[in-house]
Amino acid sequence: MAQQGIHGVWANRWTFVLAATGSAVGLGNIWKFPYITGENGGGAFVLVYLLCIALIGIPIMVAEVLLGRRGRQSPINSMRYVAKEAGLSSNWSAVGWMGVLAGLFILSFYSVVAGWALHYVFQTGTGAFEGATREVSQGVFGELLSNNTALISWHTVFILMTVGVVMAGVTRGLAMVARVLMPLLFVMLIMLLGYGMAAGDYVGAAKFMFSFKVSALSWDGVLIAMGHAFFTLSLGMGSIMAYGAYMPSHSNIGQTVVTVGVLDTLVALVAGMCIFPIVFASGIEPSSGPGLLFQSLPVAFGNMPGGLFFGTLFFILVSIAAWSSAVSLIEPGVAWLIETGKFNRVTANLVLGGASWLVGISCALSYNLLADFKPLFLANRTPFDFLDFLTAQVMLPLGGLFIAIFVGWRMAKAVMEDEMDAEGHPMLDIWLFVLRYISPVLVVIVFVMTLMNTFA
Ligand code: PHE
Ligand code: NA
Repeated sequence: MAQQGIHGVWANRWTFVLAATGSAVGLGNIWKFPYITGENGGGAFVLVYLLCIALIGIPIMVAEVLLGRRGRQSPINSMRYVAKEAGLSSNWSAVGWMGVLAGLFILSFYSVVAGWALHYVFQTGTGAFEGATREVSQGVFGELLSNNTALISWHTVFILMTVGVVMAGVTRGLAMVARVLMPLLFVMLIMLLGYGMAAGDYVGAAKFMFSFKVSALSWDGVLIAMGHAFFTLSLGMGSIMAYGAYMPSHSNIGQTVVTVGVLDTLVALVAGMCIFPIVFASGIEPSSGPGLLFQSLPVAFGNMPGGLFFGTLFFILVSIAAWSSAVSLIEPGVAWLIETGKFNRVTANLVLGGASWLVGISCALSYNLLADFKPLFLANRTPFDFLDFLTAQVMLPLGGLFIAIFVGWRMAKAVMEDEMDAEGHPMLDIWLFVLRYISPVLVVIVFVMTLMNTFA
């Protein structure tokens, strides 16, 4: 007997693709991927990242959608349901719990960076970057980081925006955003790519991103690449499971997931190829860290024809992409609170949005008042860096590992075939093989190697 959900169902398979793309494509692609690529030496890192997407990310994404569609509830209760169906302990719901927590942690720092993007809408719009050199753009970014009021205000605005949509119910408005604004974002990136080719150091950028010097990559870098594969595909914490729960019963999961994975990867690579030509041409350090996007692109906007307009539009689109991802960060927790029967959409959002907002204050101040606050209990990191590390490098890969183990080793094959609509399809066996023997093994190897190298 198929489960019935209480949160609504997407209109059709394409709505799921759009919503999942909205979740996947965000700051992870445009802000995080370029800067961690810059910090980890380029090509070798990109290669490991791509391998992780193909061998770990895509297979686990299929598993996550499958679990959501079978369970038809929040990740916590979906895991409980599928575990019960398989005759297993309800402790499997811990995967959902960890996911809800991870989502709130991610939202805390994600919202801060989205706040930077909102601030940049107004900076570009008012011509702060007109004719800008590297010094000017770095100056503007530095000023933002030293302005507590601005940092906290924009963080607050972004949390309010997020909570606002989730209140309206995710299955409704989100698809529109993805259908119109995502393509527009992509067009903007292609345009910037053209500008980078014409005016930036395009060859230097291509060399940096695609020629691999293995020596540039440490095991830490491998863990960062793997963690980012989870982060960028919104995996390991229940976002995709929650969206899978709203998927119509008869739609091909494999094809859908591959579409989302390819789109997300494409956006990240193109974003990198937009940013690095400008980074190299204007003498910015590729390893400048989280400010890379905000220091490099304004130089391009400040010097291209129509840059005021395009720059403003670009940061609006980035903010919207961040927003459709943020919605999916909070949805697992919201769906769960509603299922408890003690909350409605509005109160659930206020509670979870409020919690992320509060934790996020410490992230907003991490480049500022708390810049030197790197206590041992945060693994010698600032709150911002610690939450990024804890989620992307620990919680998401761990969540993904458990999902792979559950679906690969514990779920009845008949249930899978039923949900996948792919009985006897050869791809099903290939996928299951990878999910059993490759994805989880790679995750464990990377964990173990990083640990050994840290304590060696
Ligand atoms: N995938 C989003 C991005 O790349 C971030 C995200 C992570 C969203 C986890 C939901 C869950 O920006
Ligand atoms: Na992404």
